[in-house]
Amino acid sequence: MKIYIATDHAAFCIKEDVKKILEELGNEVVDLGPFNDERVDYPDFAHKLCNEVLKDSTSQGILICGTGIGMSLSANKHIGIRAALCHDAYTAQMAREHNDANVLCFGQRVVGLGTIESICTSWCKSSFLGGRHAIRVNKIEL
Ligand code: RB5
Repeated sequence: MKIYIATDHAAFCIKEDVKKILEELGNEVVDLGPFNDERVDYPDFAHKLCNEVLKDSTSQGILICGTGIGMSLSANKHIGIRAALCHDAYTAQMAREHNDANVLCFGQRVVGLGTIESICTSWCKSSFLGGRHAIRVNKIEL
């Protein structure tokens, strides 16, 4: 899986750790920045990442900020993006299986590295179940 990743300054410190986790799970990781810890605006990075994910429907994205809230709010403004703010392995699994989420968001100030590893593992090992869930997912966009 090609996975784009982007953060803001609040989550810059864990970006390399998350990239390593994703690569060890067998993914190709494309880093969209930022590349230093200077203060940035999370919507700029959310929109940059979503534009890339929308160009390739087989790719996914991971957006991390302090809480994950700003990133998920911004990402969900894009038609075709289903961004899920996840806090644990279960929500990550459900986001893929039931919601066909294509962008994973979480908060660096909310979850520790151990939980981040279980979130990423669960996300990568789970797939959309389709069926009744597809009917519901198709009703999300207005
Ligand atoms: C930055 O201070 C913080 O507001 C941002 O990382 C994020 O948590 C916003 O939702």
